[in-house]
Amino acid sequence: MRDMTAANLRSAFGGESMASQRYKVWGAKAEEEGFQNVGRLFRAIAHAEQAHARNHFIEMGGVPGEFLVASMAGFGIGSTSQNLQAAIEGELFEVNEMYPAYRETAQSQDERGAVRSFFYATSAEATHARMFQRAKDAVDGGQDMDLQAVHVCEVCGYTHEGDPEVCPTCGAATERFIAFEG
Ligand SMILES: [Fe+2]
Ligand SMILES: [Fe+2]
Repeated sequence: MRDMTAANLRSAFGGESMASQRYKVWGAKAEEEGFQNVGRLFRAIAHAEQAHARNHFIEMGGVPGEFLVASMAGFGIGSTSQNLQAAIEGELFEVNEMYPAYRETAQSQDERGAVRSFFYATSAEATHARMFQRAKDAVDGGQDMDLQAVHVCEVCGYTHEGDPEVCPTCGAATERFIAFEG
């Protein structure tokens, strides 16, 4: 694998792994504050980020070794409104800056597995940003958000509210979805 794409996969692996853990903590915090649905949304999206991290890790499987990994990451536990704001900014950074650049590099280096892994991730992050924005609007109005069952594609991390059909991102059947129900 070409060095630049390998470095980008490591960075994305680091970012997705941390996002997943951060969302679990922020989800518990939301539940503590009485926002059960926001907590459930954080848990569902944590699962999607975990799928992204796993896919990136598998794609760089042929590149062993130890590396320092730099990746964009928020730290700290704030109020749920603040945590949601940080989550939105993180997702938008991935959608608008990080993944387009990583994908373009992987494409120019003809690293097709990495291109797919970056595509899977970036497809989900725009949805995440919108869902977190809805959550933040509700919380800032003093209410929990309305949220149906959230379904996460185990293969690619596609995140869908309501009943899923075949995954539009990766083509996986509905049996591959994990449900986060209220
Ligand atoms: Fe995301
Ligand atoms: Fe999928």
